[in-house]
Amino acid sequence: MKALFLFLSLIFAPYVRESISLNGEWAAIIDQYDIGLNKRLFTDANARGKTDFVEYSWEGGLRLQVPGDWNHQDPGLWWYEGTLWYARHFQVTISPGTRRILYFAGVSHRCEVFLNGIKVADHEGAFTPFQADVTDLLLEGDNFLAVRVNNNRRKDAIPAMSFDWWNYGGITRDVMLLEVPSPYIEDSFIRLRKGTHNTILADIRLSEALAGFEVTITIPELKIRKTVKTDDSGQARAEIKAKKLQLWAPLAPKCYDITISAGDDTVTERIGFREIDVDGTRILVNGNPVFLKCISFHEEIPMEKRRACSEADAHILVDAALELGCNAIRLAHYPQNEYIVRYAEEKGLLIWEEIPLWQGIDFSNEDTYHKAETYLYEMIARDRNRCAIGLWSISNETRPAPDRDAFLSRLLSYGRSLDDSRLFASAFDVAYYIPSADEFQMKDDFAGQLDVIGINKYMGWYAPWPKPAPELRWNVFPDKPLVISEFGCEAKAGTFGNTDVASSWSEDYQAALYRDNLTMFQNIPNLAGVSPWILFDFLSPYRQHPANQSFFNRKGVLSDKGEKKKAWYIMNDYYRP
Ligand code: GCU
Repeated sequence: MKALFLFLSLIFAPYVRESISLNGEWAAIIDQYDIGLNKRLFTDANARGKTDFVEYSWEGGLRLQVPGDWNHQDPGLWWYEGTLWYARHFQVTISPGTRRILYFAGVSHRCEVFLNGIKVADHEGAFTPFQADVTDLLLEGDNFLAVRVNNNRRKDAIPAMSFDWWNYGGITRDVMLLEVPSPYIEDSFIRLRKGTHNTILADIRLSEALAGFEVTITIPELKIRKTVKTDDSGQARAEIKAKKLQLWAPLAPKCYDITISAGDDTVTERIGFREIDVDGTRILVNGNPVFLKCISFHEEIPMEKRRACSEADAHILVDAALELGCNAIRLAHYPQNEYIVRYAEEKGLLIWEEIPLWQGIDFSNEDTYHKAETYLYEMIARDRNRCAIGLWSISNETRPAPDRDAFLSRLLSYGRSLDDSRLFASAFDVAYYIPSADEFQMKDDFAGQLDVIGINKYMGWYAPWPKPAPELRWNVFPDKPLVISEFGCEAKAGTFGNTDVASSWSEDYQAALYRDNLTMFQNIPNLAGVSPWILFDFLSPYRQHPANQSFFNRKGVLSDKGEKKKAWYIMNDYYRP
């Protein structure tokens, strides 16, 4: 029977499954010359005979916390770009008839994983998960896990040689050993049937191509219990009418506990239902126009100069966006950890999620293209059951060119083949004021293929005001929803001064610039949302001014200590209902 839709192979709902956490303290060895593979650092070797010696040991050396970037854990690693090995032992009791899946939620940027000396996985991409079925390699009792991690920047990588955020390295997200029965529910996609507000569509695939296998979907709150059978490829589809279905909406979140059981496998996930679409220049959620009161943030806790990686960290970032008055967040510039996505969903924030195709990517390189596809695949595979995610964005500030246009067009149609239930967007920095036309215009052959156009425009900072803000008119993709995906400027918290001198680095200049931009935005007929750059000051090697920046990008409306700058109050006013 023809596949009803594309199943993806990242295990369904790892965070709600039975697992052994492999988080905690790991041993670590810095491998600056990347010689660890030859030296077999993936084994826990010790000297044997009299003449034998081993020039490394996992005992008594560096220790690093997982999850966590290595940069903030040791002053010697703050600037470190290179290879570093992690290793730990863990105990397992083998239970026959189950499968064991080793799951890494995120390792920055590329890595190879060894279990008991055998390579079981390798992955590139700091911000998406990967897994390996290690059932047949696990030993009863003690096991040895080693991970070679490298965060060197590379021309053919995504992102490439330079990007405006800290190049954190390490096992930055959770590691777990999942225990699942065999067969288990490998993938599932549960959402509204397009064009309806009361029909649930659930596609489920088992880990084995077993026909006639019963799969039951239960939603106690809706008194729904539906059983369907798998086809000969182990896939099943359920279509369920749900009369009293309450839809999820921005700032009106509603999620249901949904249990899927098949054989010995039972998974209960939190799922919300919503429809998202565009109607001309408006973004509609459940048929209602929504103006995105958005803000971007990096997956970073600036107060501690480190990657965010826990539930508590997620609360810091998401609660700050809520306090500002947002109904949406842009996860810049990469899929952030599941704690952030799930908490934002529970709190009712619509999410713009993107892959880190940031500025200068090697668009003529076929390998780089496949890395982009993999990134998109893994982002969608991990998060397509998160109803809060309304927009997938596939690039940020890439410049029009034949190879780039072809690359992005191909990637967009690939993305659409993976998910037809969301909008696709990108952020552009090529909208310019055209004096002869006395308006802003944008020429970009690729952009027209998207559902939503994101515009990054730094009027008053990177771009001078050609005339007073109230007089500036926009004519940029007038038939599509346009979101100002970035605007703003730098201000050092606690610095006050001239409202018209950028180099004052003052909160007053930033506040005045915000007021002027918000005034100008009223002249954008197809404006569907605004997202200031950025929530918190964040770390970046770009930002080298010793007094005003000290390697912080100071465009936050909140400082790196969480202090509210004057611009915060202007945005809060603007977003207040
Ligand atoms: C760009 C870019 C951001 C960057 C910002 C800035 O627009 O998308 O990643 O941080 O400008 O210069 O502050």
